[in-house]
Amino acid sequence: MAGNRTFTMLKPDAVGASKSGAIIKIIEEAGFRIIAMKKTMLTPERAGEFYTVHKDRPFYKDLCRYMSSGFIVPMILEKENAVEDFRKLIGATDPAKAAPGTIRNLFAKSIEANAIHGSDSDENAIIEGNFFFSNLERF
Ligand code: GTP
Ligand code: MG
Repeated sequence: MAGNRTFTMLKPDAVGASKSGAIIKIIEEAGFRIIAMKKTMLTPERAGEFYTVHKDRPFYKDLCRYMSSGFIVPMILEKENAVEDFRKLIGATDPAKAAPGTIRNLFAKSIEANAIHGSDSDENAIIEGNFFFSNLERF
């Protein structure tokens, strides 16, 4: 069913600060069900592949270095209206602009080290989920 899944990834700043559990608690209490989850690391090349949409942006190289600097926790989540509701739960890219109570408002350190990723469309949620997980038809 379209629209009921999204992809997220806890970023190295949040995982490194031992905030994974606190963030996952917020995600589950907001009604998202975890379909798939693992703890892993990206090489700079794999990070570049994941964020290829930003390859011409001035921050791309820094972003790839940052995203490969520590452990990440990618997850596939399920909930009605998942993509839009999850973007609301995480808040704006820049933590200084993220609404009070959002995950980035609570945990992000900077516009780059902003704690968590959230897919921006149903189409990208599928592409990004497949980037990290296989055999998804079983779940
Ligand atoms: P994601 O959920 O991670 O995709 O974030 P987003 O959709 O809120 O933002 P966007 O896709 O525009 O940017 C991807 C990531 O690049 C951000 O989450 C940040 O980690 C990083 N980023 C975005 N803008 C800047 C910037 O101006 N400077 C730096 N250093 N990093 C940025
Ligand atoms: Mg984005």
